[in-house]
Amino acid sequence: MPGRSPPISRDAQFECLDQKAAESQRSHFGSTDGSWTSMTLVARSPQGRGSPTPLLDWMPAVAEILSRIPARIRSVDISRQCPHGILDWHYEAQAICIEECRLLLPVQVPPEAMTLIGHLAVAYPPGRIWTGDFRFPHRVENASDRQRVVVLIDTDSTPALAGLLPPELAAEPERRKSLAGKAVSALLTERARPGGERVLTQGAA
Ligand SMILES: [Fe+2]
Repeated sequence: MPGRSPPISRDAQFECLDQKAAESQRSHFGSTDGSWTSMTLVARSPQGRGSPTPLLDWMPAVAEILSRIPARIRSVDISRQCPHGILDWHYEAQAICIEECRLLLPVQVPPEAMTLIGHLAVAYPPGRIWTGDFRFPHRVENASDRQRVVVLIDTDSTPALAGLLPPELAAEPERRKSLAGKAVSALLTERARPGGERVLTQGAA
C-alpha cells in the first residue's frame, strides 16, 4: 500500500487508546490470560459501510490510512495477541478476489511473531500493510515475551484496491477457490480424528 504514517506516532496513539478505552469497549474473545483481544474502531453495519466508533478518534493515524484506501470500509478492529499466544488454525471468507478483503496494519509486532498460511510463514514490520487469501487455513503465533498488536481492516474488494496489491492474489480465482476448499477439507478431516478437535475454528480471527 502506498504511503505510511510514522510508526512511532501510531504506536503512541495505540498506547493512548489502550489507557483510555473502557472495559466495556474491549472484547476478550479467545483470551487465554484474561487480557483483551480486540477493540472495534469501525463497527460492521448491515448497510455495508462501517460506522466509526469513539475509539477511532484516539487513533487519527489509522483514520488517515482508512481515508486513503480505495474501497468501502466494512469494519476495523485493533487486535491484541498476548505474549506466547497462539491463534490456532482457522479461516475467513476474505480475499481480494472475492467480495470482501482483509488488510492488516501491524502496530506492535515482535520479530518472533508470524502468521502461517498455506505453505508460507509471513511477518511484516510495523506500518507495512499487507493482505492474504484468508480462505486458506492460517495460524498466528507470537513466540515472544511481548504483545502483538495489529489493526484488521475489512473492506470491499475493488479493482482499485486490487491494483495496489500483489497481482498474483487476484490471479486464477477459480484455482484459488478450489485449492482453498481442499485445504479447509484437509483440516476438517484432520480435526475429525481423535485429538484433532482443536485444529480448526471458522471465523475466529
Ligand atoms: Fe484469520
